[in-house]
Amino acid sequence: MYVTKVTLNNFRNYADKTFSFKEGLNVIVGPNATGKTNLLESVYMCGLGTSPRVSRDKDVIKWGEKGAYIHLELQTRFRAHTVDMYIDGKEKKRVAIDGIPITRLVQLIGTLGIVFFSPDELKLVKDAPVERRHFMDVSLSQQSSKYLFALSRYNAVLVRRNKLLKTLPPGENLKNSLNVWDIQLAEEGARVIKARYEFTRELKNFAAQKHAVLSGGKESLSLEYESDAPDGSEKEIADTLSQKLFMSYDKDCALQYTTVGPHKDDIKISLDGIDVRKFGSQGQQRTAALSLKLAEISLFKDNMGEEPVLLLDDVLSELDEGRRKTLLSETSQYQTIITCTEYQEDISASNIIYTK
Ligand SMILES: Nc1ncnc2c1ncn2[C@@H]1O[C@H](COP(=O)(O)OP(=O)(O)OP(=O)(O)O)[C@@H](O)[C@H]1O
Ligand SMILES: [Mg+2]
Repeated sequence: MYVTKVTLNNFRNYADKTFSFKEGLNVIVGPNATGKTNLLESVYMCGLGTSPRVSRDKDVIKWGEKGAYIHLELQTRFRAHTVDMYIDGKEKKRVAIDGIPITRLVQLIGTLGIVFFSPDELKLVKDAPVERRHFMDVSLSQQSSKYLFALSRYNAVLVRRNKLLKTLPPGENLKNSLNVWDIQLAEEGARVIKARYEFTRELKNFAAQKHAVLSGGKESLSLEYESDAPDGSEKEIADTLSQKLFMSYDKDCALQYTTVGPHKDDIKISLDGIDVRKFGSQGQQRTAALSLKLAEISLFKDNMGEEPVLLLDDVLSELDEGRRKTLLSETSQYQTIITCTEYQEDISASNIIYTK
C-alpha cells in the first residue's frame, strides 16, 4: 500500500499545506526545524492513531490555533481509501475512514500499515522489555484484529486485578475476587502469548536474513520469545498461567500488582549467541533494530499480501555507507518516506519533497 496525498491544516508548523507522495522512495529534504519529522508524524498518526513523539494529542495543534486537521489518501492493492483526523484537544479526536466516522480508535488500526524507524528506535534493542512488547503489540495489532481485541481485553482485566491488589487487604475476600479475574486473565493472556510466540518465530527468519544483508554477512541474528509460559497450545499456556497466578498470590499481594503474564514477557535478541540487549555495541544495536523493522515489513507482506508504508526519520546519517546503500536498495521495493537534511547523490528517489 502507499500514501498518495497528505493535507495538513494547523498541524504543528503547517498552517495549510498539501503534499503528494509516490510509490517507492520518497525523500523529505530540508534544514533542521523545517517540519520534516512533523510531516512523518502526521502519516504515522493516520496509521496508528497516536503520535510517536507525544502522548498528548493537543501538542500537535499549531500553537495559537484551536484544532489540527489531517487528510490522508492512500492506495492499497484493491482500492483507494481516505483517512480524516480532527484533533481539537478537548474531546476525543474525531476520525473518519472513507468519509465514515468511526466510534473507536481501534477501528483505524489496519487501514494504513505503518512501520516507523527513528534514531530513538534504538530503545527497541537497548531499553527495558516494555519497548519490545510494544513493538510486538503494534505490529501484531496491525495484522490481526483478533490480537488487538485479545490484548485490549487482557489489559482491561489486568488493570482491574491490579486495582484489587492495591485496594483490598490480603485474605479470603481478596482471594475470591482475584479468582474471578484470573480465569479471564489466563484465557486472554494465552491468546496474546500464543500469537507472540508465532510472531517471534516468523520474524526470526526474516530478521536473520535482513541482518545478514545489512552486516555484510558478518553477524548472525537470532530471536527468542521469553515468557512465563512455555510455547504450546492456547489451552496449555492458559493452564500454566492459571497455575502461576495461583502460586504468585503472596508475592502479588506483597507487591500489589500482578507479577505473572504476557505484560512481563520479552524477546531475547542475540548476535552470534551474545545478548545484544546488554552487550551489543551502539552500531550493532542500531543495525539489529533496523533488521527487526525490515523483518516486520516482510512479515506484514506475508500475512497481509502487501507491504506497509515505511517511515524513516533521520536514519541515514547514523549508518555507514555500506549499510546505507543496502537499506536504500531494500526499501525502494515499497513505499518508504525518509527524511534527511541534505539531498544525497546516492539516493535515487521517485519523489523529493523540499520543506524549505
Ligand atoms: N504545535 C506546534 N505548533 C507550531 N510549531 C510547532 C509545533 N510543534 C513543533 N513546532 C515547530 O516545528 C518545527 C519543525 O519541527 P520538526 O521536528 O518537524 O523539524 P525537522 O525538520 O524534523 O528538524 P530536524 O532536522 O532537526 O529533525 C520545530 O522547530 C518547532 O518549532
Ligand atoms: Mg526531525
